[in-house]
Amino acid sequence: MKVLVTGGCGYIGSATARWLRSKGVDVQVIDNLSEGHRQAWDGPLEILDLLDRDLLHTYLKGKSFDGVVHFAARCYVGESVEQPERYWRSNVVPVIHLTEALQGVPFVFSSTCATYGEPQAEYLQEDHPQFPVNPYGATKLAAERLLLDRSAAGHGTCGLLRYFNAAGAAPGGDFGEHHDPETHLIPLAIDAALGERPPMTIFGTDYPTPDGTCIRDYIHVDDLAAAHEKALDCLITGGDSGYWNLGTGNGFSVRQIMDAVGHAVGQPVPFKEGPRRVGDPAILVANSAKAKAELGWVPHYTDVNELVATAVAWHRAHPSGYAS
Ligand SMILES: NC(=O)c1ccc[n+]([C@@H]2O[C@H](COP(=O)([O-])OP(=O)(O)OC[C@H]3O[C@@H](n4cnc5c(N)ncnc54)[C@H](O)[C@@H]3O)[C@@H](O)[C@H]2O)c1
Repeated sequence: MKVLVTGGCGYIGSATARWLRSKGVDVQVIDNLSEGHRQAWDGPLEILDLLDRDLLHTYLKGKSFDGVVHFAARCYVGESVEQPERYWRSNVVPVIHLTEALQGVPFVFSSTCATYGEPQAEYLQEDHPQFPVNPYGATKLAAERLLLDRSAAGHGTCGLLRYFNAAGAAPGGDFGEHHDPETHLIPLAIDAALGERPPMTIFGTDYPTPDGTCIRDYIHVDDLAAAHEKALDCLITGGDSGYWNLGTGNGFSVRQIMDAVGHAVGQPVPFKEGPRRVGDPAILVANSAKAKAELGWVPHYTDVNELVATAVAWHRAHPSGYAS
């Protein structure tokens, strides 16, 4: 089986590329290395910008893939609010370019719980209304719609995977998260505990949650990778298009995550309390029953301490990420 992985030098893309390769899949990565790291993926790589339609179509001409997994995107919510045009271009145009060139090829897409917007339930199911509250979520929803329209036209099936908070690193500590700027809680808390950045700010301590801080669902990057394998298998063997939430179904507050990081690092995470950020819901937790039932996917990392320990191991082995 030959699969094209876009954004395969990024955090989740490289984990998935390695996961698929370990299952015997022939993986070809495309990445422009705008955010990703060459060291994150040691297999076949085409350095190419998906926004360049001519280059992409020339590259794909005559090649055949059994499936495509599309990770490449810009992923900073705050930046998307400031630069909406850039986000619409970066997150929607590559999907158009890829689908034009890959007629009939099953397409697995990195979507997000940000497509739901303000949650109307504690556990989000796939039939929750989709009213994104920022341009990032809106662009992902637009790409979802494009892929569903393509599927309805008979031009290729799609698997829309709505991740909750991706977290953790390869168990051996060899590969992990390296974003610049880093915005994710676990790597920020590790840096703060180790004195590598100033004390963290907790944005909002007056939410209607047991300890007043926001609750999120942290899903290990290898569990995400496994879900991509399942979605590809489903589509390539003739399964219908679908959309699936990917989370553990367990919510952890900011304070609980900071405690877990402090425990794993061996020293507490220094922090200060700040006001709420606009657009941060109190609780975002997945109901992933549909992915379990339809894809046979089961997340392995349900113990948050185990998940955090993988991120700490990666950080200890690579204090400057891939620049180490
Ligand atoms: N990290 C999360 O918690 C999370 C949650 C939900 C959804 N997602 C989605 O998962 C996907 C991967 O996220 P990530 O955290 O691994 O991001 P990342 O920034 O680490 O990886 C994205 C990769 O895509 C590449 N890329 C971007 N634009 C490109 C282009 N025009 N042409 C070629 N390559 C390009 C980057 O260089 C990078 O390697 C994204 O689509 C993101 O929206 C992530």
